[in-house]
Amino acid sequence: MRSPQGSASASGRGLSGVGQPHGDSAAHIDIRDLRHAFVRDGMVTHALDGMDLEVRSGELVSVVGPSGCGKSTMLRIVAGLLPFTSGLVQVGGKTVSGPQTDLGIVFQNPVLLDWRNVLDNVLIQLELRGLDANQYRDKARQLLADVGLADFHDRRPRELSGGMRQRVAIVRALIHDPTLLMMDEPFGALDALTREQMRIDLEKLWLQQRHTLIFVTHGISEAVALADRVVVMTPRPGRIEKIIPVDLPRPRNKAVVTSSRFIAYCDEITECFMRNGVIRY
Ligand SMILES: Nc1ncnc2c1ncn2[C@@H]1O[C@H](COP(=O)(O)OP(=O)(O)O)[C@@H](O)[C@H]1O
Ligand SMILES: [Mg+2]
Repeated sequence: MRSPQGSASASGRGLSGVGQPHGDSAAHIDIRDLRHAFVRDGMVTHALDGMDLEVRSGELVSVVGPSGCGKSTMLRIVAGLLPFTSGLVQVGGKTVSGPQTDLGIVFQNPVLLDWRNVLDNVLIQLELRGLDANQYRDKARQLLADVGLADFHDRRPRELSGGMRQRVAIVRALIHDPTLLMMDEPFGALDALTREQMRIDLEKLWLQQRHTLIFVTHGISEAVALADRVVVMTPRPGRIEKIIPVDLPRPRNKAVVTSSRFIAYCDEITECFMRNGVIRY
């Protein structure tokens, strides 16, 4: 495990300024012909049915698809939390065969411990990994400041808004400096305005840190606004319908997300969902 001080310089990332993508292949993801079927009480559910995806180190990929198409299943498999039926899954050139440690995950509902303050909720990540949490206090404070929570270290989760709680969960997922961050509909429970601000701030954070980021959503414009490439999934059993490279400048400011090119990307995804019956007008 890297040290908190050594990590930023060793990886070319830092907490301020624009970072560079990883030069190494630490979080390069390779998924080949991935299939997974859940079997419960004799009932077979084919969740993923032949998925091929390569994610480059330092890339930001959005995965968009209808509910039940296997997005969370895919993330759990990449994280090594779910043994899969067949196919190949590699992270950093190593076949995934158990829980990955060089990884952060953020879910829709941040599970924060209400008897711990914000800072200690972040530091729990280190405690669970058997690391010395004290060594990471300064880094935790810096990251909390980076996401706008500089004055909230001592607050309890119940004193925070939904968006602030999710910011704490993001910092907790990043505190050990993973090369791979995976987010599973992280802004799904937030109101539209908070969600847009979270998207803007997440892009800023990613531009600083440049970890590989897989962002699962069913928001079409959110997927386009964030991604280097958007992976469009079919309804269950999940396959990749299309991969769309998003050639838009960063940061994706108001001019970008209201541009005709941005709208054209959103239209292209909408057309995919209309073709396979997910969206019917
Ligand atoms: N533990 C499980 N046991 C049985 N079926 C499951 C399990 N987890 C997910 N599924 C099924 O697999 C399919 C894909 O689920 P999921 O990956 O959660 O979809 P998504 O995240 O795209 O909404 C769904 O039909 C879901 O009901
Ligand atoms: Mg899901």
